[in-house]
Amino acid sequence: MIILVGFLLFSFFSEFECSRPNILIMLMDDMGWGDLGVFGHPSKETPRLDQMASEGMLFPDFYTANPLCSPSRAALLTGRLPLRNGFYTTNAHARNGYTPQEIVGGISDRELLLSELLALAGYRNKIVGKWHLGHQAQYLPLKHGFHEWFGSSNCHFGPYNDKSTPNIPVFRNDEMIGRYYEDFQINRTTGESNLTILFTEEATSFIKKQAQAQQPFFLYWAPDATHAPVYASRSFLDKSERGLYGDAVRELDFSVGIILDTLWTTGVANNTLVFFTSDNGAALVSKIMGGSNGPFLCGKETTFEGGMREPAIAWWPGTIKPGQVSHQLGTVMDLFSTALDLAGVEPPSDRVIDGISLKSTFIDGKMTDRPVFYYRGNELMAVRLGFYKAHFWCWSNSWEELKQGIDFCPGEKVEGITSHQQMNYTTQPKIFHLGRDPGEKYTLNPKSKEYQKAKSAILEIVKEHKNNLTPGKPQLNWCDKAVMHWSPPGCKKLKRCLTPPSPKPYLCSWPH
Ligand SMILES: *[C@@H]1O[C@H](CO)[C@@H](O)[C@H](O)[C@H]1NC(C)=O
Ligand SMILES: *[C@@H]1O[C@H](CO)[C@@H](O)[C@H](O)[C@H]1NC(C)=O
Ligand SMILES: *[C@@H]1O[C@H](CO)[C@@H](O)[C@H](O)[C@H]1NC(C)=O
Ligand SMILES: *[C@@H]1O[C@H](CO)[C@@H](O)[C@H](O)[C@H]1NC(C)=O
Repeated sequence: MIILVGFLLFSFFSEFECSRPNILIMLMDDMGWGDLGVFGHPSKETPRLDQMASEGMLFPDFYTANPLCSPSRAALLTGRLPLRNGFYTTNAHARNGYTPQEIVGGISDRELLLSELLALAGYRNKIVGKWHLGHQAQYLPLKHGFHEWFGSSNCHFGPYNDKSTPNIPVFRNDEMIGRYYEDFQINRTTGESNLTILFTEEATSFIKKQAQAQQPFFLYWAPDATHAPVYASRSFLDKSERGLYGDAVRELDFSVGIILDTLWTTGVANNTLVFFTSDNGAALVSKIMGGSNGPFLCGKETTFEGGMREPAIAWWPGTIKPGQVSHQLGTVMDLFSTALDLAGVEPPSDRVIDGISLKSTFIDGKMTDRPVFYYRGNELMAVRLGFYKAHFWCWSNSWEELKQGIDFCPGEKVEGITSHQQMNYTTQPKIFHLGRDPGEKYTLNPKSKEYQKAKSAILEIVKEHKNNLTPGKPQLNWCDKAVMHWSPPGCKKLKRCLTPPSPKPYLCSWPH
C-alpha cells in the first residue's frame, strides 16, 4: 500500500515537473526593433536570431512599458506599469528616471517579482547581466527571488577614478568580485571587452547544471553590450558593416545561438520557453553608435514607436509551431504573466497586474484585444488600441538639451509631434493609424468619423485605466552621492572598500 502511494506520488510529481517548462528571457539593452535581419535590417547580420524566429513566433507588435531601462526592467519583473511599481519620478512632469549610482531608491519590498513567485514554485533562478532595479544592498537580486547572479547592478559607464566616483562593481551572487574598468575591462578606445563571452558562459553553465539536476529554471539573461559604451570581444571587432554597434549585435546573435544549441545538447530545448526582446528602443542619441528602430519614429526616451516598440521572438520547439507571426499586442509585462501561467502559479490577486498570459497565443495563435499604455515618468503620454494610437502628450526633449546636441529624433521632425516643448493634447489627442502610418507622420483629421470613433474608444479605455490606478511610492526622486558604489557587499573580503562622503540627499534632476 505504502509502496503504491509512493509510486503514485512519484509519478504525479514527475509528470508535474515535466509539465513545468523552463523560462529563459533574453533581454537586450537598447537594441532596436530594426536591428535584426528578420525585422528588415539590410546588413542581415543576425543569422541565429533570424533562424530562431523562423523556428518560432515573431511578434512585430511587442512593446516595453517605458522607454528607459530601469522602469522597463522593473515592469518586466513585476508585471506592472512603472507608475504602479514605483519606478518613476514626480520631480518634474513626464520625465524618465532610472537608477544611476546616485539613486537612493530601488524595487520596493511590496512588489512581488517573477523570480520570487517562481522560487516559491520550486524554480531555480539566475540573472546574468544587468539588474538596474536599485543597488543598495536591500534591492539586489538575491534579496528578490534570484538564487544566482553574475553581472552588475548598473550600467557599465566609466571609467571613473574611484575618488569622486567609484567604478561600477560586478557581482557574483550577493557579493562584488571586482569592478568594471579595473577587473572587467572595456577598452574605450577599441571597444574591446570579453563581457559578452562571460555572460554567455554563465548562461550555458547554468543550463547544463539545471538540466543535470532536472530542476526547472528561470534564466534572465540580460547582457548589455549594445548599451553605450558598446563593446564586443576581439574576434567580433571590425566584422560588421555597421561598425562597433553592429559588432556588438553580431556577438549577441552568436551568443543566442550558443545558448539555444546548449538547450538542444542538454535535452531541454523542447521543455524551455525562450523569449527574446529588448528593454527599450534604440538610442538614436548615439547616432551611428546606436541601433535602428526600423520605420518607427524617434528612439529611446520617447513614447513614439521608436522608443517603445521592441524586437520580439518566442521559441519553444515542439510547442510553438515554426514560422509564425503574431500581431498580438504584447508588452514586457506579459512575460511575467506568461511565465506564471506556464509554471502553474496563480498571479497575485491583491494588486493590479498589467500583463496578460500569451500562452494560448503561443500555442493556438489566440488574439486578445488589449490596449498598450505609453508612459513617460508620471504621465500617460499615449495609448494604442488596435491600429490606433492617440497621443495625449507629445515631447521629445527640451530646446536647451537639443542645443547641447542631445537629439532623440535625429533627422526626423514631425510638426507638433516631435516637439521640444511639452504639448498637452488631452482635449484633442493626435491620432495615428499605425497600420497605414507606422512612422507616426500623418495625423487623422479630427473632423473625420474615423478619428471620432477611435478617440471615443480610447477615451473609454483611459477612463477605466485611471479609475483603477493607484500610483506606487516614487522610487526615483532622491539621489545622494553617499549611496554610490563606495563599499558594495563583498568589498571587505576583497579589501576594496572605498570611503563614502557623508549623506547629503538631494532631488535627482531628470532633464528628459
Ligand atoms: C585599449 O587598446 C589600445 C589598443 O590596443 C591599447 O593601446 C590601450 O592600452 C588599451 N587601453 C586599456 C585601458 O587597456
Ligand atoms: C579578452 O580575453 C583575451 C583572451 O583571454 C585576452 O587576450 C584579452 O586581453 C581580453 N580582452 C580584454 C579587453 O579584457
Ligand atoms: C522532448 O524531446 C525528448 C527527446 O527527443 C523526448 O523524449 C520528450 O518526450 C520530448 N518532450 C516533450 C515535452 O515534447
Ligand atoms: C492638460 O490639458 C487639460 C485639458 O485642457 C487640462 O485639464 C490639464 O490640466 C492640462 N495638464 C497640464 C499638466 O497642464
